[in-house]
Amino acid sequence: VNIILLGPPGAGKGTQAKRLVDERHMVQLSTGDMLREAKTSGTEMGNRVAEVMARGELVTDEIVIGLIEEKITGPAGGGFIFDGFPRTLKQADALAALMNRTGQTLDAVIEMQVDDAALVARITGRFTCGNCGEVYHEVTKPTKAAGVCDVCGSSDLRKRADDNEDALKQRLMEYYKKTSPLIGYYYAKHQLSTVDGLAEMDTVSEAIASVLDKA
Ligand code: AP5
Ligand code: ZN
Repeated sequence: VNIILLGPPGAGKGTQAKRLVDERHMVQLSTGDMLREAKTSGTEMGNRVAEVMARGELVTDEIVIGLIEEKITGPAGGGFIFDGFPRTLKQADALAALMNRTGQTLDAVIEMQVDDAALVARITGRFTCGNCGEVYHEVTKPTKAAGVCDVCGSSDLRKRADDNEDALKQRLMEYYKKTSPLIGYYYAKHQLSTVDGLAEMDTVSEAIASVLDKA
């Protein structure tokens, strides 16, 4: 099954996507991760993208659609998880066209609902392992041993450049202005399911599993 995880910054899209990769061998396509990788390439385009991201603004549709286009013909495993894509109506139309062209279907769109107050706490407490990408939280998911990644043992634990209050404000604004119209778009196509993203991680995973099993 191919699904979209839709939700504001900090809703838990990345956390749940990684679980689906482990449990169902699905393939996570996170445009945010792809863009952060491009940024480390040090090219002029990479640097420009990094500046836009650090401000919390959206990167152009052309760039992200191009990234997805490259991956969508690759190995699909147990299905694709679109994480952080689409984020505009134009991206949603492009995805529909790409799926159509490659003979694939979009089976469910899962909206992860959370309120703004929770998002601020989640984003400001988040840190990730620079080596393996595992995502942590100072309060809800600390490392077992202080300063060391549980998964790979690396001590390269980092905060994202856009995880500060100013950039987060901009990211939320972009979400409400440009991305939230997708909720109506997919509802009208009878593809939308909603889960409570404020619940505990395991509870959210169960809710997503029940959507997947019906898809
Ligand atoms: P992107 O990387 O997609 O970031 P985002 O959408 O802001 O989402 P986040 O990664 O911040 O949050 P998440 O929902 O994955 O939450 P997480 O699981 O980490 O995009 C970054 C930037 O790239 C954009 O601003 C834009 O510039 C650009 N970009 C990307 N895609 C684009 C596109 N399609 N078009 C244009 N531009 C694009 O969880 C957050 C924290 O909460 C973690 O610490 C986690 O441990 C904790 N947590 C998770 N779930 C729970 C729970 N249930 N209970 C308690 N804590 C929890
Ligand atoms: Zn690690």
